[in-house]
Amino acid sequence: MVKVVVCGAAGGIGQPLSLLLKQSSLISHLALYDIVNAAGVASDLSHINTASKVTGHVGKDSLAEALTGAHTVVIPAGVPRKPGMTRDDLFKVNASIVRDLAQACAQYCPTAFILVISNPVNSTVPIVCEVLKKAKVFDPRRVFGVTTLDVVRSSTFVHQIKPQFEPHSNRITVVGGHSGATIVPVLSQVKQVRFSDEEIKTLTHRIQYGGDEVVKAKDGAGSATLSMAYAGARFTNSLLEASVGGKRGLVESTYVHLIGNPGAEWNVQATGGLQYFAQDVELGPQGVAQVKALPDLSVEEKKLVEIAIGELKGNIAKGVSFITEGG
Ligand code: NAD
Ligand code: LMR
Repeated sequence: MVKVVVCGAAGGIGQPLSLLLKQSSLISHLALYDIVNAAGVASDLSHINTASKVTGHVGKDSLAEALTGAHTVVIPAGVPRKPGMTRDDLFKVNASIVRDLAQACAQYCPTAFILVISNPVNSTVPIVCEVLKKAKVFDPRRVFGVTTLDVVRSSTFVHQIKPQFEPHSNRITVVGGHSGATIVPVLSQVKQVRFSDEEIKTLTHRIQYGGDEVVKAKDGAGSATLSMAYAGARFTNSLLEASVGGKRGLVESTYVHLIGNPGAEWNVQATGGLQYFAQDVELGPQGVAQVKALPDLSVEEKKLVEIAIGELKGNIAKGVSFITEGG
């Protein structure tokens, strides 16, 4: 039995993400939780002819039944940006939504993998981890900030200027975090094509601010939902393939609690011991099998990582203190 719960399942990301997860043969039970409309979404998806069972759970009173027995919980619950907002502007609303869901996970599915999509990811992941620490059920191998959309965008944008770069099978490492200057694509390690300095500069900026492109185009109707659902399903499927499908050697870039995770010793020297950082992670039966060593970085990328570290410190402290100082 592999039960996957989507919290925020009736939303812009939640619905297409659930649709994609309904197609996974590794999931036997897809539980859709939201404060509104999850029953309708579940009824609709339940007619799709794949073997998994789909259940809908609406409102806080149904959170226990949604989460009990969960193998994996994916969280796209919360408000998206409008033009002119930063992801950090979402903290006021989303921090308490994510905190409450993490508290429920600690109570009803303390060993589940938790995949955080809700922004600002740089702070919401620390919120989840601090809640689990407080409840004494924290395992750093089991909590992930989903930064896969940055990886997906990197391959797409590179392919758009270098058509010989095949975007589906070629993965580009993205380190740092998930917001503007904290997103650092490691383009210097792309072996299939060569870039000029100007191309690297333009691509890096486009990847860092790809989210803004969609927010602007949607003009007040939210942020990326379909590409995010695709990216969220890709990460969830990779984790399931590694944890229940027995696949070895699967690597994804993801934002994790570095301290206490296997392989993250490089962190002390590379980031000055930052608690959280996105980097390539090999997935395994327990979640993080190994945080990979930081790739070689160009001089420019080193500068970008320094900037990212500066911003991440504040983002992380904000998330941590929201829980430790009783937010
Ligand atoms: P949306 O408003 O369309 O959907 C959010 C859903 O969450 C709604 O159905 C809402 O009812 C639900 N919700 C609100 N409070 C809840 C609660 N307490 N419990 C359960 N569900 C609750 O928003 P969206 O476009 O789906 O975006 C969701 C979040 O994902 C936003 O914070 C957005 O910034 C973030 N996001 C992250 C990434 C990423 O790369 N990590 C990419 C895109 C969007
Ligand atoms: C994205 O990168 O598309 C998301 O983080 C949503 C946003 O606010 O840009």
